[in-house]
Amino acid sequence: MLTSKVIGILGAGNMGEALVAGLVKASIVEPKQIIVSRRTEAALAYLADTYRVQVTKSNTELVSKSDLVVLSVKPQILGGILDQCSLYFHEGQVVISIAAGITTKFIEEKVGKEIPVVRVMPNTPALVGEAISPYCLGRYGTAEQALLASQIFSAVGRTVLVREEYLDAITALSGTGPAYLFYLLEGLIEAGVEMGLPEHLVKALVRQTAFGAAKLVMETTRSPRQLRAQVTSPQGTTHAAMTYLEAHSFLDIFKKAVFKARDRAVELGQAHENGSEGAKKW
Ligand SMILES: NC(=O)c1ccc[n+]([C@@H]2O[C@H](COP(=O)([O-])OP(=O)(O)OC[C@H]3O[C@@H](n4cnc5c(N)ncnc54)[C@H](OP(=O)(O)O)[C@@H]3O)[C@@H](O)[C@H]2O)c1
Repeated sequence: MLTSKVIGILGAGNMGEALVAGLVKASIVEPKQIIVSRRTEAALAYLADTYRVQVTKSNTELVSKSDLVVLSVKPQILGGILDQCSLYFHEGQVVISIAAGITTKFIEEKVGKEIPVVRVMPNTPALVGEAISPYCLGRYGTAEQALLASQIFSAVGRTVLVREEYLDAITALSGTGPAYLFYLLEGLIEAGVEMGLPEHLVKALVRQTAFGAAKLVMETTRSPRQLRAQVTSPQGTTHAAMTYLEAHSFLDIFKKAVFKARDRAVELGQAHENGSEGAKKW
């Protein structure tokens, strides 16, 4: 399906580059079928050198040339960019957005034609081909476009088709999810060092612990709760840590943080719909 298509990555930063790297590595398309844009010339030169893709500073050129446009800029500037490019979108194109909070309806209205819009929420494990990318279709999307989006994001991990009304919660869950886990690992590293262990040893132990725990979660049928119960013997060391966390309502605080991320995704979407975007960062 993608053999003769040109894929434009508009705003090839962290997520955009991960997508380019995944598409090239998986040989899903030829590098020359990919065109990327951003403002920084040195970054564009790096992308051209590393992946042999086409590069441009012009978003309108990218939109004109692409069959699939992947909008990978920050949500706050997406509206302005769509306004600049609106004359260059054309029939037969598919627009895919990964911007947090921004609805397919908003993009459809900005694009201004009956162009299918797909909204995807990948996460940073895309950098190592292990993202989860839930996606949904806008009002003009068909099963064919769903398959296209799935093919593209399969290059950086797994995909799942969901209802758009779930996407703000999904943004807080899996979109932001890796950051929560990294934060816990930061805490573990700080604790290890404060207990007097050498930093290089602490980092090695924490990295492999994170990898091993993730593998265990993926490869057993047991839930995280069951896995934790398995290593928590009465009056043991894990029990001492868990008792302290529970006494301090750690999970309640953590869940409230996740709800804050969800609320921010909703706010970003609403700010765009009211035309007041731009004030805060994701
Ligand atoms: N990071 C995540 O975990 C994650 C997860 C899911 C979804 N997302 C979504 O992915 C999108 C990108 O996030 P990111 O983390 O990849 O951000 P990022 O690294 O900042 O990438 C955005 C890129 O947009 C470029 N840009 C800025 N202004 C531009 C313009 N006028 N024209 C063309 N390019 C422009 C920037 O490069 P220059 O400064 O060189 O122009 C930058 O490299 C966001 O909408 C975010 O909501 C991110």
